[in-house]
Amino acid sequence: MALRPIIGLFLLTPLTNAYNQVHLSRTIAADYATLNSSVEGRLFKGVPLVLPCTTPDGGQSGRCKLIQEEYLEEVFRSNNPGAYVVSQWETCQATGEQCLLDYTNTSNLAPVTPPRECRLGSIPPYFIDVRSETDVQVAFEFSKNFQVPLVIKNTGHDYKGRSSAPGSLALWTHNLKDISYDSEFVPEGCSTPSAGVTLGAGVQWKDAYAFAESHNITLVGGSDRSVGAAGGWLQGGGHSMLSNTMGLGVDRALQFKVVTPDGQYRVANACQNEDLFFALRGGGGGTFGVVMESTILASPQVTLQTVVVSFNSTNDIALTRELWTTMTANALQWAEQGWGGSASTNIAIYINPKLDANEAAESMAPLIELGKKFQDANVEGALVITTTFESWGSFFDWFASSNVAINGVSLALVSRLIPKTSFATAESQAELVQGLMNTTAATPRTLILIDAPSSYPGDNTTSVTEAWRSSIYHVTAVSGWNWNATKDEKKQTYEMASASIDNLRRITPDAAYQNEADVYEPNHEVSFWGSNYQRLPEIKNKYDPLHLLDCWQCVGWQPSSSRFSCYL
Ligand SMILES: Cc1cc2nc3c(=O)[nH]c(=O)nc-3n(C[C@H](O)[C@H](O)[C@H](O)COP(=O)(O)OP(=O)(O)OC[C@H]3O[C@@H](n4cnc5c(N)ncnc54)[C@H](O)[C@@H]3O)c2cc1C
Ligand SMILES: *[C@@H]1O[C@H](CO)[C@@H](O)[C@H](O)[C@H]1NC(C)=O
Ligand SMILES: *[C@@H]1O[C@H](CO)[C@@H](O)[C@H](O)[C@H]1NC(C)=O
Ligand SMILES: *[C@@H]1O[C@H](CO)[C@@H](O)[C@H](O)[C@H]1NC(C)=O
Ligand SMILES: *[C@@H]1O[C@H](CO)[C@@H](O)[C@H](O)[C@H]1NC(C)=O
Ligand SMILES: *[C@@H]1O[C@H](CO)[C@@H](O)[C@H](O)[C@H]1NC(C)=O
Ligand SMILES: *[C@@H]1O[C@H](CO)[C@@H](O)[C@H](O)[C@H]1NC(C)=O
Ligand SMILES: *[C@@H]1O[C@H](CO)[C@@H](O)[C@H](O)[C@H]1NC(C)=O
Repeated sequence: MALRPIIGLFLLTPLTNAYNQVHLSRTIAADYATLNSSVEGRLFKGVPLVLPCTTPDGGQSGRCKLIQEEYLEEVFRSNNPGAYVVSQWETCQATGEQCLLDYTNTSNLAPVTPPRECRLGSIPPYFIDVRSETDVQVAFEFSKNFQVPLVIKNTGHDYKGRSSAPGSLALWTHNLKDISYDSEFVPEGCSTPSAGVTLGAGVQWKDAYAFAESHNITLVGGSDRSVGAAGGWLQGGGHSMLSNTMGLGVDRALQFKVVTPDGQYRVANACQNEDLFFALRGGGGGTFGVVMESTILASPQVTLQTVVVSFNSTNDIALTRELWTTMTANALQWAEQGWGGSASTNIAIYINPKLDANEAAESMAPLIELGKKFQDANVEGALVITTTFESWGSFFDWFASSNVAINGVSLALVSRLIPKTSFATAESQAELVQGLMNTTAATPRTLILIDAPSSYPGDNTTSVTEAWRSSIYHVTAVSGWNWNATKDEKKQTYEMASASIDNLRRITPDAAYQNEADVYEPNHEVSFWGSNYQRLPEIKNKYDPLHLLDCWQCVGWQPSSSRFSCYL
């Protein structure tokens, strides 16, 4: 228990489960000191975001006030190593150890002050602020020698808890922020150039989009400012409102530089380490190595025709049914014409990089007419917008100014890919709309992401499930809980979310997006990877024979591992 005094400084008792006691007691402070000097002093201790609020006068400190104000803010969270966007992954769900605020009232410090305690939960007790491949090599060696589990934490957006683990050593990639553009990028060992942008592992979409705007190029990325562009998003697939015509993130990956758990720093692209390249293009983050940088395809700027129909009420069943009926009736045609977008119970946003304004208005006439009908009927807040954005970046700024995801809340997310066949006949459309209505009746928030690469063939060199390409929608549903939910209530929320998506599971093939899937996805190998799964375990064993990397429902995972002891 040589580590006790060090950790005790934080008034925490993170070494509470048996696993941590066994494993951490094998390491001694001196080993961490050696590790620290091997990474040039960039080893630091993990602490809960809210810890500064727990000291006797903490509530009065400027730092605590800032934390309370910014508690639900995504960029603030992603800048803080001990904070996670989906907050149950900071906690130990199994034991209740945590240090969370009441998200409905962050002024209230009762959740973290006596008799409540502030605990480390699943937050890694140690982090390395990674700046070079050497840091990662040293960490793999340390993990092997002392059997300390490793996790890679980039932004902490993961919905499935794959970027935290109790008793672990975290590789924090946040500060790898380099971005560069090469209009004739040639992957090492290849000969064909293409325009490419190289992103350090810590770059977030907000940075990448600003960079793209300043170079008049398009980078295909997600609809959230602070998700990582080169880490888990990319390695798990990476969908975008532009994916219908421009592909998934993985379709546009040109090269990775990656430290594999055997300690080698490798280049993976179409011309070398092709098996690893295949695995990193959809096999999932946190599994095959630590990516230091990713180079992705850059396209010329796109002009985006945009149509928005919305109304105020989020729970008017009849209006939602009408909106979704119009959407599903036209979905096949709109997919072929290049539309992507996003919708929920009271809004549909569509963008198109292929049509001009007149063609767009004609194509979207059924939706525009529906919006006008809502206006004529005096539906509260009924809105129809048709406009043009000169670039993805300008569209994104507009979109992100009014569409910010929930951050700092504990959430059970579930999802399903909806195949083209569901849109083929009036009968299948009606069944789908009913399935969507059933799903939304059972969860507080359902999103229809029109983000599948429906018109983008791919070239069989990515490892995401092939079902992505025969799909049009990726539907997510989510419900959450507050800081004081009991273990049973959390379990019930997961089960309820899972049951809500069963409405869609029943009428679709086994296919879901691994980065936004049910934590308890049944048959997850098939759902996430389809027939591409076959090759993945072998590639995992080749580059990580000792399973130094492991994460929940990841390729080659070992479910009984104590690193998963905080899952329910
Ligand atoms: C608000 C919100 C909006 C989202 N929007 C979208 C969207 O529009 N499109 C979409 O496709 N997805 C979206 N997602 C899901 C997103 O793809 C996942 O949350 C993804 O895991 C985030 O990756 P990250 O690296 O940012 O996060 P982290 O939680 O830090 O990491 C996620 C996983 O990737 C691994 N990882 C991270 N960096 C590396 C690396 N350098 N090398 C190897 N493994 C690494 C981690 O170990 C972990 O397993 C969204 C999520 C949230 C919370
Ligand atoms: C690592 O070393 C640096 C520089 O000496 C020091 O500031 C830091 O506190 C050390 N980290 C730990 C966890 O001891
Ligand atoms: C929020 O919590 C503070 C501190 O406990 C309390 O004074 C305030 O009334 C609460 N606000 C609401 C809206 O409940
Ligand atoms: C981007 O386009 C604008 C307007 O056409 C032009 O002024 C600017 O020089 C371009 N920037 C780059 C980096 O090409
Ligand atoms: C609809 O919602 C908007 C934004 O919240 C609000 O400004 C507007 O007043 C609402 N309109 C009606 C008619 O309620
Ligand atoms: C929707 O729910 C109803 C009532 O439970 C059920 O009869 C029906 O089969 C469900 N339909 C779909 C497509 O989920
Ligand atoms: C991808 O594989 C499918 C099925 O094996 C095949 O029909 C298709 O032609 C392949 N596409 C490419 C580009 O190789
Ligand atoms: C949980 O805490 C909130 C305030 O933070 C309170 O309103 C609610 O009643 C509490 N629920 C339970 C089950 O204690």
